[in-house]
Amino acid sequence: MKKIAIVADPLSEFKIYKDSTYGMMAEAARRGIALYACLQGDLAALDTPKGNRVVGRFAPIHLNKAAAGASNNSATAWFEAGEAQTMALHEFDAVLMRKDPPFDMEYVYSTYLLERAQEQGARVFNYPRAVRDHSEKLAILEFPQFTAPTIVTRQAGDLRAFVREHKIAVFKLLDGMGGTMIYQARHDDPNLSVIIETMNQFGARSVMAQRYLPQIVEGDKRILLIGGEVVPYALARVPLAGESRGNLAAGGRGEARALSPRDREIAEYLAPVLAKRGLLLVGLDVIGDCLTEINVTSPTCFQEITQQTDFNVAKLFIDRLEKACQ
Ligand SMILES: Nc1ncnc2c1ncn2[C@@H]1O[C@H](COP(=O)(O)OP(=O)(O)O)[C@@H](O)[C@H]1O
Ligand SMILES: [Mg+2]
Repeated sequence: MKKIAIVADPLSEFKIYKDSTYGMMAEAARRGIALYACLQGDLAALDTPKGNRVVGRFAPIHLNKAAAGASNNSATAWFEAGEAQTMALHEFDAVLMRKDPPFDMEYVYSTYLLERAQEQGARVFNYPRAVRDHSEKLAILEFPQFTAPTIVTRQAGDLRAFVREHKIAVFKLLDGMGGTMIYQARHDDPNLSVIIETMNQFGARSVMAQRYLPQIVEGDKRILLIGGEVVPYALARVPLAGESRGNLAAGGRGEARALSPRDREIAEYLAPVLAKRGLLLVGLDVIGDCLTEINVTSPTCFQEITQQTDFNVAKLFIDRLEKACQ
């Protein structure tokens, strides 16, 4: 593999000691692979002498070894960007879509462009169609044997009945991320009606309700699946005291742990199924014994796991990427 293209958020905003995309880039650079980067907004379908092609405004990126591991970006810049040029996506050995959510309509349009690029010969990961087909929250409904009781509805009556049955539930908006728009709902909460109205906007918006899993105090486990292989350590994201959400973005503490037998059962079942769909990298969220989310847009936690264990996640990822592109 000689050169890869990365579609990402602005590199200047990366925190390189914890950014998974940086981990991938550093591992690729170590292998002598040339790196090019662009923003999502730099993707386009343009007329070229060879016809309409999906292109990006890509800058060549050189990593500054002196900055590796730095906990802030200020001391030495961690990369140097060369002059950007318009290049077709099929000119690269691989294209990594690493733009973070929100998964909004612009993200959907990007998946359509990336699908056209695949038809033109580009090797894009994750497969854009699979990313579009897997709503990170809704995708768990395909695997009810691994989930806590979960419903998705716009109707206040359904939500109320679910909370009555399970006593405590968690309400989630389908496009929330990083722990935003997660409510705990108790059957005897005098504000229950207002919580429901806030979530479903009087029937205009779909809401997921899930049985509350008290094992969240032990952490929300991120399990990575890479090219159909299960990473043997999870990153348990343990909520701050007094906080109900484990997300690192909500202040959760990340603690690497060996997988439990149940974690392994869930992960080993899903790994080949999802890999076959073109999902090279998947981040499962598991609370206690239950699958709660299947992250496919831009899963993270590479560096936390690598730093706390003897398992090099980025190395496995680039190995599997190279294999997928052969
Ligand atoms: N069923 C549940 N029981 C208890 N806590 C939950 C449950 N589902 C989610 N949470 C809490 O909300 C956080 C975020 O949930 P998640 O479904 O992964 O959404 P996202 O990470 O996209 O915001 C979790 O880390 C956890 O703290
Ligand atoms: Mg999550």
